[in-house]
Amino acid sequence: MSLTLEVNNLTVRYGRFTALENIHLELQPHTTLGLVGESGSGKSTLARVVAGLIAPAEGQIRLGSQPLTMKRSREQRKQIQMIFQNPDASLNPKHTVRTILSDALLFHHIVDRREALNRCKELLARVQLDASALDRYPHQFSGGQRQRIAIARALSVEPSLLIADEPTSALDVSVQRNVLELLSSLKAELDLTMLFISHDLGVIHAISDTVAVMRQGKLVEVSPKEQFFARPEAAYSRELLSAVPQMPKLYTGGLHGANGKNI
Ligand SMILES: Nc1ncnc2c1ncn2[C@@H]1O[C@H](COP(=O)(O)OP(=O)(O)OP(=O)(O)O)[C@@H](O)[C@H]1O
Ligand SMILES: [Mg+2]
Repeated sequence: MSLTLEVNNLTVRYGRFTALENIHLELQPHTTLGLVGESGSGKSTLARVVAGLIAPAEGQIRLGSQPLTMKRSREQRKQIQMIFQNPDASLNPKHTVRTILSDALLFHHIVDRREALNRCKELLARVQLDASALDRYPHQFSGGQRQRIAIARALSVEPSLLIADEPTSALDVSVQRNVLELLSSLKAELDLTMLFISHDLGVIHAISDTVAVMRQGKLVEVSPKEQFFARPEAAYSRELLSAVPQMPKLYTGGLHGANGKNI
């Protein structure tokens, strides 16, 4: 079940440096929030603090009616899953894909041991990998395939919220689009709730329902996607948009993958 994510008055500091300042944000179930902003603006910091990987200096995070602190129950850890820029961050190189996926399933009591193999196969099919992947190790796959495995692992535990932090920017350009198309179709099929971080406004346009813009640790705009691209509120948003020369063409025609589907 998806729940509303609420971030209130959130501040994160690294020593004396304030990386996030007084962030307020609401993410509705079954919608995707696209988070943009220049390098160092605090996007990954927001992802990490929501995922419980770092502690805030101030403020609260809630998922549904539950406050999320640094001490999270197993159920709470399950609820928020993350896909990183580098898939290796979530794949143990010593484990086969079968172990990677079934460990997550069993740890979070999604299925019992008897059902685990079938569920692993279903998960691989969902990310368009062959069942023969089960007995192989991460290094035996390409970067794009490893990211698919990381996506399967994240989805295996049926999270309430999926956070994707630039999930394709470490991949070869040729496979970036395939992975984005996969995420976009999974979003539609599974009605996912996502926090999607990207530098690429084309990708943000294709996948987001709402766009949030961060600058120097502050949110400067949160707008419905169509509004953001047609009538950005913040001067900084206009600056970001004007830096992309092919914007008008992209946004009237949409982005089309090889199969003609919007990505
Ligand atoms: N562990 C850390 N210790 C100290 N400073 C950090 C740490 N992690 C990030 N920072 C600083 O906090 C700021 C925000 O970093 P963050 O990684 O959240 O930015 P970002 O928006 O994700 O950037 P990018 O687009 O390059 O990924 C940056 O100035 C960064 O140098
Ligand atoms: Mg980052």
